This record gives sequence, structure tokens and C-alpha cells, in this order.
Amino acid sequence: MENSSTEILELSSLPKEKWWGDNCLYQVGGFWLLPEFVQSIDRVIKHFKPLPSDIILASFPKTGTTWLKSLLFSIVHRSSKDRLAIEHPHELVPILEVQIYTKSNEPLITTPSSTNNHFCQIFSTHIPYQLLAETLDSSECRVVYVTRNPKDTLISTWHFVNKWEKTKEESWPFEVAVDKFCNGPFPYGPYYDHVMGYKKLSMERPSKFFFVTYEELKNDTKTHVMKLAEFLGCPFEGEDVEEQVEDVVKSCSFEVLSNHEVNKSEESLIGSKFKVPYNSFFRKGAIGDHENYLCDVTIERIDALTREKFHSCGFMY
Ligand code: A3P
Repeated sequence: MENSSTEILELSSLPKEKWWGDNCLYQVGGFWLLPEFVQSIDRVIKHFKPLPSDIILASFPKTGTTWLKSLLFSIVHRSSKDRLAIEHPHELVPILEVQIYTKSNEPLITTPSSTNNHFCQIFSTHIPYQLLAETLDSSECRVVYVTRNPKDTLISTWHFVNKWEKTKEESWPFEVAVDKFCNGPFPYGPYYDHVMGYKKLSMERPSKFFFVTYEELKNDTKTHVMKLAEFLGCPFEGEDVEEQVEDVVKSCSFEVLSNHEVNKSEESLIGSKFKVPYNSFFRKGAIGDHENYLCDVTIERIDALTREKFHSCGFMY
């Protein structure tokens, strides 16, 4: 996809494959995209020009995006508890291709240059680096990427997809989900290529790309919140640093966030044609849930793939 082109990408021009039932994914630059987002992703790639002060949260779906959204928002805006209690993290940090570039080449929201009263804006995206390289490389914006154990990501995705409105009639068979995750069309997949795209950059340009795993965050949220604040240029300061950080960690914890009425609601994301309830972004919030679903053979199948795809680059999972 050329950044300069203004033509709208036509679905009929793309390779497509079924991922289950009658549901198809479309292939762009080696990645599998939901038809609902192909054109908005194309618009983001062609028209989104991040400001140097922008923060982009990138992720493969179901790897901890919602958590990172609340953390980044809290780190940047500090006293965010009140907002988090009444607004879903996905409304506080919108997804470029799902909530912003949905209908036209113009973003659906105002930018800091027009409001002039924001320190910075935070956006999120699931677009792989391989498709967004020109956009991200031509800006001084900072990028945070979160990833997660592939087996837990798969399980979380399976649960999530089965909460969609269109799956009410026909749910996604578990064996198909496993198979497609390993070797086939999977939304925004292949997972491994998505992760490696951002991982390599974080090693080459650590001052621009911050890479963190769901598990690292779970195991020591405080340390990573402090590192993130440093990376974003807004370190915690003062005599009560400990207290400030603890406050952020607590207000973004699964226990606290998942108990806010807004996050328990069946409402769908504003501006998205995709009907996904707010509460589907909070399920269990645990490490290792795959053990409750995957047999030894499937675990070995995914582990072998992980060794092949990640370990050669020195990335462990
Ligand atoms: P599970 O389905 O394993 O519970 P995403 O935000 O990228 O869609 O990822 C969703 C996953 O993150 C879900 O995982 C969800 O429960 C978990 N999650 C949401 N908020 C969280 C939080 N504050 N802390 C830890 N995990 C969280």
C-alpha cells in the first residue's frame, strides 16, 4: 500500500480466506485483516500523521491492550482515577482503525494542534509495523508495544470472538481457532510476524520503541510503570513517588478496572461498526489460562512454533 495514494483499497482486489464458517479474512502485506477494518486500516496508513508528541500503543489483539491503555493514560495524566471510573479505557485511548479513521480520510477527533490544551495524545492500533513503517518512521512519536504468551493470547482471542454479535449464531470452534493461530488466517496474524516486527525495532531503536510483555507487567507492574513514565518523558517526581506509582498501578489493576460499572456494561465502542461489548475486554486477567484449555500435544505444537519463530531472534516465550 502506497502512502501517497488516495484510492480506497477494494476488498475484491485482495486475497481472501475463510477463518471459520462463512467468515473471511483479507490479506494485505502478508497479514490477515477483518473486512470491517481493511479500508480504515488503509486510511490510517495513508493519512495518519502522528505528531512528535503523540504516543502510539501498538499490540496484537488480546495481549493486554486495555490494561496498557489505562496505564498510559494514567501515567500521562496522573490523576486519572475519576476518568477511569466512568470511561472505558478504549474510549480514553481510541483505536485508530476502529474508532478514528472509520469513515473518511479525516480523523473523527480533534487533535492537540487544534485544541492546544493537551500535553500529548495517545492512540492505539493493532496494525503491524510492517504495514505502518512509513507512518511511524516519519514521525518522532513514541511507540509502546505490548505482547503476551502466544497460548494465552490464543485462548483470550477465542473467548473474545465468541462474544461478538455475529458469533451468536455460530460460535468459533476451538480446534479451528488453534489451527488458524498456528497456520492460517487469524485476525491481524500471523501473531509471530506481528510481534517480531515491533520487537526488532525496540532492539534497534529503544528510545522510540518500548517493548513490554503482559507477563513482565503482571510480575512487576510498579517497575514497568516507572520505566514507561521515563520513556514517555514524564517520570514520577517528588517525595511521594512510591505513593504516586502505587496509585496508578492500583487504579489500573484488573480487580479495580473490571469492577467499574462502565467496564461491566454491554455497551459497544463508540464510533465502531463492530459490535463488541465493553465487558468483553475484561475476562480473567491471568497468566497461564491456556493450561485449562490446551492438551499437551497442542501445547507442544505451539511451543515448537514459538521456538522456531522467536528463539532465533533471542526472544523467549
Ligand atoms: P483474558 O481473556 O486472558 O482474561 P486486550 O486488552 O488486548 O483486548 O486483552 C484482553 C486481555 O487482557 C484479557 O485477557 C483481559 O481479561 C485482560 N485484561 C484486561 N484488563 C486487564 C488489567 N487491568 N490487568 C490485567 N489484565 C487485563
